Amino acid sequence: MLRRPRRNRKSPVIRSLVEETQLSVQHLIFPVFIIDGDNQREEVASMPGIFRYSIDLLLEEIAACYNLGIRTFAPFPALTDDKKDPFAQEGHNPEGLFPTAIRRIKENFPDVCLMTDIAMDPYSSDGHDGLVRDGEILNDETLEILGKMALVQAEAGTDILGPSDMMDGRVGYLRNLLDEHGHQQVSIMSYTAKYASAFYGPFRDALDSAPKSGDKKTYQMNPANRQEALLEAELDYSEGADTLMVKPAMPYLDIIQSLKESFPVPIAAYQVSGEYAMIKAAAANGWLDGEKTMQESLMSIRRAGADIILTYFAKEYAQGLKS
Ligand code: PBG
Repeated sequence: MLRRPRRNRKSPVIRSLVEETQLSVQHLIFPVFIIDGDNQREEVASMPGIFRYSIDLLLEEIAACYNLGIRTFAPFPALTDDKKDPFAQEGHNPEGLFPTAIRRIKENFPDVCLMTDIAMDPYSSDGHDGLVRDGEILNDETLEILGKMALVQAEAGTDILGPSDMMDGRVGYLRNLLDEHGHQQVSIMSYTAKYASAFYGPFRDALDSAPKSGDKKTYQMNPANRQEALLEAELDYSEGADTLMVKPAMPYLDIIQSLKESFPVPIAAYQVSGEYAMIKAAAANGWLDGEKTMQESLMSIRRAGADIILTYFAKEYAQGLKS
């Protein structure tokens, strides 16, 4: 045999010499959940190890993550029902929980990068990402609300806006609005190929944000479609998105690969709450080695072409590297 591929696997040194994909903490974004109050910390039942923090404790959590090398965070507000209405007005209250958290984080950690979500669902009593009228999700009317949210978050000091709503035309709309208001330096990481996925279940528990009626299939993508992801990417790219995101991650590696091959911008992948919960549940039962499964899942997402990975495992991964 002239070709014996096992020769390149014969020792740890050779294996690392020929390793094709690298993953390190610099590629990770850690999503974190914020609640109102002081000294509050609640574990998300379907996401063991992930907590909702009041701002004071969130700052401590960010400090701990910072010491592990994590520099980018994606905070999400978990609001009580009295703060929600059909128009998501709390989403553009400059004194609201979310912009306050953004300001506090940036004051305490000026070199931390924040990627903040734009969509109505955390603030909407309907639990939808857009404005609902007679059971329909209105597109263009939603853009105006998203625009107000974007400006408040930009004023508060966010680095990257992450429109996760899947309304048509929102990247271009937000880009123009940001530029008109002097926020040329605020980036857009668009949730480009965001699928209508059952894997978001635990996140909706964390935010209590499940749709009150219907589902998100008229705006999030059909899991059966791949070509359509290229159309979404084409639009977001031409409308000025700095980074394109695929979500969820591991069930959609083919989509990550397609976008990576077709667009000259960084590609992000969101390993979502359900992907995290599956691994944690199997590990808790002793059915999988949680640590190794986490590493393999993250590596596979990188190998498929993700430059950036949003993952609830970010802290645990970083801790693993330290120890
Ligand atoms: C909301 C949003 C969702 C997630 C991120 N932003 C949920 C949804 O679309 O219902 C899901 C993240 C996760 O499951 O970890 N626009």
